[in-house]
Amino acid sequence: MEKRLRSYDWFGKSDKMGFVHRSWFRTQGYPDDYFVNRPVIGICNTWSELTPCNGHLRDFAEVVKRGVLEAGGFPLEFPVTSLGETVMRPTTMLFRNLASMDVEESIRANPIDGVVLLTGCDKTTPSTLMGACSVNLPTIVVPGGAMLNGRFRGECIGSGTFNWLIKEKQGVENYTPQDIHDVETGVARSQGHCMTMGTASTMACMVESLGLTLPGAAAIPAVDARKKVMAQLSGRRIVEMVREDLRLSRLLTREAFENAIVVNSAIGGSTNFIIHLLAIAGRIGVQLTLEDFDVIGSRVPLLLNLKPSGKYLMEDFYYAGGLPVVIREMASYLHGEAITVNGRGVAENCSEASCYNEDVIASLSRPLQEDAGIAVLKGNLCEDGAVIKPSAASPHLLKHRGRAVVFESMEDYHARIDDPALDIDESCVIVLKGVGPVGYPGMPEVGNVDLPMKLLQKGVRDMVRISDGRMSGTAGGTVVLHVSPESSVGGVLALVRDGDMIELDVAGRRLHLDVSDEELAVRRARWVRPEPAATRGYVRFYIEHVQQAHVGADMDWLRGGSGADVKRDLH
Ligand code: FES
Repeated sequence: MEKRLRSYDWFGKSDKMGFVHRSWFRTQGYPDDYFVNRPVIGICNTWSELTPCNGHLRDFAEVVKRGVLEAGGFPLEFPVTSLGETVMRPTTMLFRNLASMDVEESIRANPIDGVVLLTGCDKTTPSTLMGACSVNLPTIVVPGGAMLNGRFRGECIGSGTFNWLIKEKQGVENYTPQDIHDVETGVARSQGHCMTMGTASTMACMVESLGLTLPGAAAIPAVDARKKVMAQLSGRRIVEMVREDLRLSRLLTREAFENAIVVNSAIGGSTNFIIHLLAIAGRIGVQLTLEDFDVIGSRVPLLLNLKPSGKYLMEDFYYAGGLPVVIREMASYLHGEAITVNGRGVAENCSEASCYNEDVIASLSRPLQEDAGIAVLKGNLCEDGAVIKPSAASPHLLKHRGRAVVFESMEDYHARIDDPALDIDESCVIVLKGVGPVGYPGMPEVGNVDLPMKLLQKGVRDMVRISDGRMSGTAGGTVVLHVSPESSVGGVLALVRDGDMIELDVAGRRLHLDVSDEELAVRRARWVRPEPAATRGYVRFYIEHVQQAHVGADMDWLRGGSGADVKRDLH
């Protein structure tokens, strides 16, 4: 006998509340049969005009509805907090957990049997997935897709990646305001999210490698008609998933997380992958540690030749065959039997994938780089860990000892970095404090701070930079990130002073502050905890409860899930 739908508790009853639930929905013109044994599919939409990368998702929701209706479901779209990476202050990461709460409570409180997550811009994927995990209903993700390749005077340019070059282009290569304008208009010329292997593309690949999308969904450009086909098919499939009771917890096993780590290394994904995957694992109850990313991912070869570290963009990735090619190629590293949303194993889904351009997707036998994954560092400067992406760093700096030049905050950095009198050269280590989860607050993407103009003009293009912040997936450099514990809660990073010597040894996985324990104890005794960044509202709540980066920067009381049951009725 078929299991009773969760939505029956709202729409199936013949009592007073059944009348109330149905009657008000009838204002939208639904006939009787919509309330009888039809899986109700909540289409969780992060569309917002304040999130340009997701500006097309309103149309996509209509396409998903077509699929849901074809399969006999009842689609109901609902809006959730949307996080626009390029405009929100001080940083979208401050609101990832807030948005996840919105998603979680919106799903649980409503007559929903299955969920479609419409995502795109960086945080909209992890925030919605974190929330959905804490409810654990059948769920499928439709990634919104990347923009078309950026173009500037005959060249392909990548969104996001150019941002990090503006200071250099203006100050060293003498770009005119017209040049910058032409880049600005040419780099963002269609709907969709950033088309480099930045965080949004990384998140799209993450959900596909976790088995949460239909095969091949991640790389299809936002404006390609085949993206809409994928959305429609996802609408059909989620109805079947409800009938099969194929919940997130059946898909998001430890094996699925390990697969995602391998794939992220093979595609050269963003360091933000770590912090989001840790938070997602925490919600669904899978044990995952920072060390797992090194143990599982750091020896994986790089196959994908995409900016910021490579040559191509997401559109090229799609034409070359997309993520199924990478998954097929990496089969020997993966748990191929891990089940995906279509009910089949990840290996079976991708076994027939063909590569159409080996310059974009290299083969396992001839990778672009060996050992491409993210390295996790330990040492007295990061007792709970820090991360670096060696494939985005300068090889000559991966083992380095240098003099610290310390900035106490972003404001301090901006005030002094281009001061001609600043005592700094290319052998120095730039140390930036106060940009962690609690300190900023929200852990912004500032770890890859620009070099001083006087060094850029000398031709220096990279230096070791260390901070408790994050880095955009579109950026690169020898940048040590996510130092934990952060400076604002009293991590050793807080005690670093100008002139201290710092040793970075990526191969040895070591980050060391060459200051004696006795001297550090003296400095610690004098250290004064910064004033909290807020005294009221959500931000106060956040800084009192956010966890450190090495466990995913979720709120302590949001880890885990509460399931889909609601104990009390509306009455
Ligand atoms: Fe939205 Fe890059 S700003 S994906």
